[in-house]
Amino acid sequence: MKIAILGSGGREHALAFSISKSSEIKKIYCIPGNAGTSEIAENISIDICDFKNIYEFLKKNHIDLVIVGPEDPLVNGIVDYLEKLNIKVFGPNKISSKLEGSKIFTKNLCKKYNIPTAEFGVFENAEDSYKYIDNSKHPLVIKADNLAAGKGVYICKDKADSYLAVQEIFNGKFGAAKNILFEEFLEGEEMSYFIISDGKTFKYFGSAQDHKRVEEGDKGKNTGGMGAYCPSRLFNKELEHKILEKIIKPTLKGINDLGTKYKGFLYAGLMIVKNEPFLIEYNVRMGDPECQTILPTLDTDIVKIFQSCVDEKLNKIDIKWSEKKSLCVVLCSNGYPEKYEKNIIIDNFEKLDLNENNYLFHAGTKKKDNKIYAVGGRVLNFISISTNYIEARKNVHKNLEKLKWNKGFYRRDIGYKVIDK
Ligand code: AMP
Ligand code: GLY
Repeated sequence: MKIAILGSGGREHALAFSISKSSEIKKIYCIPGNAGTSEIAENISIDICDFKNIYEFLKKNHIDLVIVGPEDPLVNGIVDYLEKLNIKVFGPNKISSKLEGSKIFTKNLCKKYNIPTAEFGVFENAEDSYKYIDNSKHPLVIKADNLAAGKGVYICKDKADSYLAVQEIFNGKFGAAKNILFEEFLEGEEMSYFIISDGKTFKYFGSAQDHKRVEEGDKGKNTGGMGAYCPSRLFNKELEHKILEKIIKPTLKGINDLGTKYKGFLYAGLMIVKNEPFLIEYNVRMGDPECQTILPTLDTDIVKIFQSCVDEKLNKIDIKWSEKKSLCVVLCSNGYPEKYEKNIIIDNFEKLDLNENNYLFHAGTKKKDNKIYAVGGRVLNFISISTNYIEARKNVHKNLEKLKWNKGFYRRDIGYKVIDK
């Protein structure tokens, strides 16, 4: 079988790695991939939103299945586009992808199906927004209603903060904004919960806790994710039952009621308040770095899982997970998530201990003349699996110290809630 993966991050390297272990695989392509994927796949330099060129490549190379990693092409309808041209593709269609593409779509769905989420208000202009702010309690959460790579969200401590957020959003800081979303601030602990769905059946695909803030102790600016551990410490059967009954099932019904089916990964970003789940946001893909953290604990051939989804036969497959704990630390370029230098060489890869318990997945890297360069903010993902989180983190740190890349930084406290209690 020939598979093409769209994307170039740590998530896509982890997917490529899992796919490469499958007995079904003859060849993997990554569009466009990174230095890590080039070791196990062939990288193809096409823009992930250039559907026409992607299709031509897939057709010419007789690709059997496409896996879409990031949200952009999904929200822009790549699944509908390719399926119309008879290409098999794993991922949600354009309507379903609105769960991530439009926060207001999701909020309205929550309201209609009684899905627990923060109270909210939607406004189209600054004037109405200011009025709402004047009558609201703080902290107040303010969001731009478009894909903003996790950055279009403000937690405002007072009125002045809120006014500034409204100005920035309507001035186009995150692209043209027709609407603005206000939310009640929920106080609790976050958890990422994943399912995989074929449109008829869905199955659990892991839980994790992501550390989104750049500084230790979960302080500082929001990032794409500085590290994660799985399973989440909050996860238990009683909570899962509530997540499924109150959030996941009504959402899938909502999508069915729109005359379509949800196929692909679905990532529920939850706030757990006193063992009760509230939906903060949906993502229509695996999380990054959650995917890198979760996949090393998957004990079933991932290609068979993808195939069963595309064929709507997910009910026929048993997805098995290792009992091990997994922990991932992201090595970033100095300056991230603000300005950082690009094209910095990274050495010492040969010193790393990589085996069935210790993994390295590349994110913002590029290979040139057999050397590896950092080209992104999040550069490398170090993962270890073990019977316990303490040992997993120790092993991750050992590899990070062997790499000794002095142009980067990482959080040493990933998993502190399960380790340094
Ligand atoms: P989002 O892009 O909607 O996931 O928001 C990014 C981050 O902002 C989330 O991961 C939370 O940490 C935080 N956040 C978003 N909405 C809320 C809320 N209603 N209450 C508290 N924190 C929130
Ligand atoms: N880990 C956050 C995300 O993938 O959006």
